[in-house]
Amino acid sequence: MTKLGFQIVLYLYIVLYTFTVLAGRDYYSILGVPKNANTNQIKKAYRRLAKELHPDKNKDDPTAEQKFHDLGAAYEALSDPEKRATYDRCGEECLKREGGGGGADPFASFFGDFGFHFGGGGGGGEQETPRGANIVMDLFVTLEELYSGNFVEITRNKPVVRPAKGTRKCNCRQEMVTRHLGPGRFQMMQQNVCDECPNVKLVNEERTLEVEVEAGMADGQESRFVAEGEPHIDGDPGDLIIRVKAMPHPVFERRGDDLYTNVTLTLQEALVGFQMEIDHLDGHKVSISRDKVTWPGARIRKKGEGMPNYENNNLFGTMYITFDIDFPKKEFTEEERNSLKEILKQTPSYRTYNGLHGF
Ligand SMILES: *[C@@H]1O[C@H](CO)[C@@H](O)[C@H](O)[C@H]1NC(C)=O
Repeated sequence: MTKLGFQIVLYLYIVLYTFTVLAGRDYYSILGVPKNANTNQIKKAYRRLAKELHPDKNKDDPTAEQKFHDLGAAYEALSDPEKRATYDRCGEECLKREGGGGGADPFASFFGDFGFHFGGGGGGGEQETPRGANIVMDLFVTLEELYSGNFVEITRNKPVVRPAKGTRKCNCRQEMVTRHLGPGRFQMMQQNVCDECPNVKLVNEERTLEVEVEAGMADGQESRFVAEGEPHIDGDPGDLIIRVKAMPHPVFERRGDDLYTNVTLTLQEALVGFQMEIDHLDGHKVSISRDKVTWPGARIRKKGEGMPNYENNNLFGTMYITFDIDFPKKEFTEEERNSLKEILKQTPSYRTYNGLHGF
């Protein structure tokens, strides 16, 4: 290599190195998504990692806070198209300079608190803290959404507890008090005792909640959003339970992870074979072809063309395609009838049978 060439390489190296340092953290690798990931992939990765990396779950890891913070920063930048474009162009430093400072905490708006719950023993009920009611909400989703997964934004008016002027009675309880009535005479009586607390009021606030329709979710499956339910002035809010309801689909019927559909063939296709494509729920084509005779009620199985399995999205159910035949309505001429007879050469069978019991 010439001296000049070497200098150029060295120069390039320094430029690249400086750029890398300035560019800061690699948000894509923090989220573990490719550079061309779409918003759904980013949200999905974030949601999964946020559960995994939450500091409350990683108490032994001294870097947990930092990792969780990095994850939040990565999500905040990449989930916003404008910020993502800035980041793609010139990295983290530049995003900080241009990107209207910090912004809101992504955790506040995203999933409430993710619908998961740490600490607080759950079922135990160690204390009698009053709780607001749980709210169950049906979320109607299409089969397409259940196939590919989707994020759905729900906007709702939610009453939240906010500070107000003055004080209010709180923590009220029954206590036994003893009154001294005279020498050797006491009276015990029950009394309602309360504390004075700062006053609060319920205020309706518009809240946006992002709900993930996960690929392969079952009809009726519930996701719980802790503390997003009915508030309680003296205690904890209840939970919001989102129940996924599958809407009927014009082409497919789902049973478990399998999909069922019907195809009508012409008599000609049924006799001489056919080749066709079915549009799947995400738009990909499923091709089916036959060169044998297809009789009414015949069924073809396509392994791996059913619904994704909820536990393992890489596994898919089966698609069952059942055929019926559209017979020609036209009248055949004497000549055509003779040719058909000539081709089919079927002997009359006139078999009668019990159609209801299928002997
Ligand atoms: C297919 O046809 C059968 C019989 O007519 C019907 O019961 C079934 O619901 C159909 N399936 C779909 C997915 O439309």
